[in-house]
Amino acid sequence: MVREHWDNRMAFILAAIGSAIGLGNIWRFPFVCYQNGGGAFLIAYIVALLTTGIPLLLLEFGMGHKMEGSSPLSFSKISKKLEWFGWVPVLIGFMIVTYYSVIMAYCIKYGIASITQAYAQDPAGYFFNETLGRTSGPFEFGGFTKQFIFLALGLIISWVWIVFSVWKGAKTVSKVVYFTVLVPWLLLIVFVVRGITLPGAMDGLAYYLTPDFSKLLNPGVWLAAYTQIFFSLSVGFGIMIAYSSFLPRKTDLVNNAFIVGFADALTAFVGGLAVFGGLGYHAHIMGKSVGELSHIAGPGLAFVTYPSIISNLPLAPFFGVLFFLMLLTLAIDSAFSMVEGMTASIIDKWKFSHLKANLTVSSIALIIGLVICTGAGFFWLDLLDHFMNHIALGISVLGSCLFIGWIYGAGKIKEYANSISEFGVGKWWEISIKYFTPIVLVLLVGTEFISRIKGSYENYGRLPEFLAGWLILVLIVVAAYFMYRSKGKD
Ligand code: PHE
Repeated sequence: MVREHWDNRMAFILAAIGSAIGLGNIWRFPFVCYQNGGGAFLIAYIVALLTTGIPLLLLEFGMGHKMEGSSPLSFSKISKKLEWFGWVPVLIGFMIVTYYSVIMAYCIKYGIASITQAYAQDPAGYFFNETLGRTSGPFEFGGFTKQFIFLALGLIISWVWIVFSVWKGAKTVSKVVYFTVLVPWLLLIVFVVRGITLPGAMDGLAYYLTPDFSKLLNPGVWLAAYTQIFFSLSVGFGIMIAYSSFLPRKTDLVNNAFIVGFADALTAFVGGLAVFGGLGYHAHIMGKSVGELSHIAGPGLAFVTYPSIISNLPLAPFFGVLFFLMLLTLAIDSAFSMVEGMTASIIDKWKFSHLKANLTVSSIALIIGLVICTGAGFFWLDLLDHFMNHIALGISVLGSCLFIGWIYGAGKIKEYANSISEFGVGKWWEISIKYFTPIVLVLLVGTEFISRIKGSYENYGRLPEFLAGWLILVLIVVAAYFMYRSKGKD
């Protein structure tokens, strides 16, 4: 079978940037920055980007390109026995896309609601709860309500969009990314300009960026910077391995890693300008200070606070539709990259046609997503998100560093990447992969373990946490093992 290829280098870069840039840049970065020292946090963030983020991108690019395979195939080329580990990252990505696509369904509902400004007069959070049809506990699913049906339709639309975006694999993605990367960027610029010209915006920006350098002495701030880097760059899901395996033999890897890493960081920073400009305006209208606002991170920012900011603007329906279009186009290429990571792995192993692999992955994810559309769904979404990004991702990246860095040899990937790139990386890169990044990860995952042992996440209770967290983690490892044991096709 001839391996599929990108149309050109630009397509690859855009696809990798599209995967990295997502909701995390808009609803996670600005808040983390604000909470952890404002402008001073940017220093920690850039350090984290250079010391682990870009090295990990290069590790995945080098691995996929050298081995010419998706994550499981690449690991099996190191040693047949390591194939099972190669499945772990793609399965984590698969779990994430089951709920990432549900968030896209929320965006569709809000985009439509923007036309009539249906969320405008409600008390904070009312419309969001209404959208979710949220029940009072994780085991109350709420049945076939109007809310469920609406979200389920939104989910189906999201999946149709995802399936078509990766229709012929890299060939289709090559075309799609011009739209799904450039459109959200243009819209982001619209919101930055709109955001920073509103009354009160400067107060918002002051909260976002006034540096508190003393915070840099706090280890928690550094951990936050590293966590955000891992989350944002889409490393540890086998996506970048699969994507770089579609590059032509003659290419540049080091440059690509720097471009993708910096483009993602820049987007997060600029996203913060739009968010905090808007928050400053919101505080101004409410007669509060920005520090007193709630719902300024995560889904609360996108689905409670920002809609209410928009509804106070002239031309609210117009800005509302644009805002949710921006979120959708930010999310779509992250979503389909996770599907591609899995699809490419299935094709490599069982020689499915692209269409068949794509439809198999997408329909299973859609079915799981339907559960997340129920009235209990948000509890599960939140739990899955927490466990996948705080524990599973950490373990996955740690495994890559140990298996590729130590068993295969980081040096070999370095030599390979340097030999085909315009400029190379030095010894520091190997130190990052073999020592520094693993230490950071052990600290991150360790701290998380301790807090989970001390208390259940968001007080949802131990049983839901066990089911959506620990059990899924074990199932991922077991499933990875079965995939590995299953007989592939040569
Ligand atoms: N990096 C994406 C973001 O910042 C999220 C993502 C997670 C993408 C996992 C791909 C895989 O939102």
